[in-house]
Amino acid sequence: MALYSEKVMDHFTHPRNVGVIEDASGVGEVGNAKCGDIMKIYLKIENDIIEDVKFETFGCGSAIASSSMATEMIKGKSVYDAMALTNKAVAEALDGLPAHKMHCSVLAEEAIHNALKDYFDRNNIPYDKSQFPDCEHCEHCE
Ligand code: FES
Repeated sequence: MALYSEKVMDHFTHPRNVGVIEDASGVGEVGNAKCGDIMKIYLKIENDIIEDVKFETFGCGSAIASSSMATEMIKGKSVYDAMALTNKAVAEALDGLPAHKMHCSVLAEEAIHNALKDYFDRNNIPYDKSQFPDCEHCEHCE
């Protein structure tokens, strides 16, 4: 069996939503200290709906495929639906990632969460702080 699914290869070779939104409503950037990969997500939000989303990922193929799939999954959704997106859902939508590449999908979940937090902060929208654990203390880094 191939190491990567056809969907991973498709999103890696033809990533959707690559780029920058200059007047973004929220921006989130995360990095993985171990592999050095970095992901940045830009959200354009109107009335709590994600009208547009772009990403820049400096990282491995799985990180690029995860960003591409994750942005497709939250486009047109509410900010609260986007908050519920998990890295597992992204990996499943890609028909799976090799176990040692699951952390790449975590970057997508965290970058989206950070961008949403930025949006909530900019607009003084209250949120449950426990949904945004400090990076070093979250389960993914332990
Ligand atoms: Fe670092 Fe994939 S190897 S995000």
